[in-house]
Amino acid sequence: MTNEEMKTAIIKLKKEKNCVILAHYYTRPEVQEIADFVGDSLGLSQTVQSTKADIILFAGVHFMAETAKILSPLKKVLLPDLEAGCSLADSCNAVDFKKFIDANPNHTVISYVNTTTEVKALTDIICTSSNAINIVNSLDKEEKIIFGPDRNLGGYIKSITGRENMLVWDGACHVHEQFSLERLLELKAKHPAAEILTHPECKKTLVMVSDVVGSTAELLNHAVNSAAKEFIVVTEPGILHQMQKSCPDKVFYAAPPTDEKCACNDCSFMKLVTLEKIYNTLLNESNEIIIEEGIRLKAEKSILRMLDIPNL
Ligand code: 13P
Ligand code: SF4
Repeated sequence: MTNEEMKTAIIKLKKEKNCVILAHYYTRPEVQEIADFVGDSLGLSQTVQSTKADIILFAGVHFMAETAKILSPLKKVLLPDLEAGCSLADSCNAVDFKKFIDANPNHTVISYVNTTTEVKALTDIICTSSNAINIVNSLDKEEKIIFGPDRNLGGYIKSITGRENMLVWDGACHVHEQFSLERLLELKAKHPAAEILTHPECKKTLVMVSDVVGSTAELLNHAVNSAAKEFIVVTEPGILHQMQKSCPDKVFYAAPPTDEKCACNDCSFMKLVTLEKIYNTLLNESNEIIIEEGIRLKAEKSILRMLDIPNL
């Protein structure tokens, strides 16, 4: 089948099976084009809550499909490639995280959505990069906080909110840690009018030289609304597809990784999702996400607490 035939077949299957396809901004352009909704982690979770579909096909990574299943246990949730993991979620295993929590009692545990169901079940409030600052600010100033698993996002939130009582887990995303400050500054020197848009999973040195720091959706929004005509984008380059689509008259430069010969700031997990895998998964209703009910209920509590906090 050609890509066009595959697209037609997916659209037909989607209708027949009352399926919604949700895609993250880091997936391949052709995958984003076939999706019913493309968004950041917060937007995707909110869409999961509101959809009337019977099947959710998640064009993204494992923790995203798990989050969908936690929020919609009666729906069938499918992931086109079960190997689509996340290095950040992998940097925090539940056994060690529990030891950390036990060693630091009386802390409110805030975890980034990029975590396993087991870690979510140990968490008081989930957050995404869109709402993390707001969620920390919703707690009393004196409240002691454990934040996991991203050390860069944690450090950024700590500096913005001025929270002294915040312990940060030492995890990171291999994609966002690949960006090079030196090469970013070289690119900026070539395009001095370009605004630097950076995801908070990047290292502090990159965040410090940026014009805007935010989730993928916030960076996209900024690109649409800014008077600037050029942007250097310091996050996984999949987002450039929607940026270019929303702003055809603006120019976007993908920030380079440290090693210029590698494509190591591509998220290899997100790129595992292809049209062919979407087609086969939907046709056979395979790769279903199943979560044991006891752990689902615990994880759900922490996600619902996040969704209940108004975004100011
Ligand atoms: P957001 O799209 O929520 O900003 O998250 C980025 C990310 O790394 C997803 O894995
Ligand atoms: Fe995980 Fe990083 Fe890929 Fe996002 S970009 S899914 S945090 S590995």
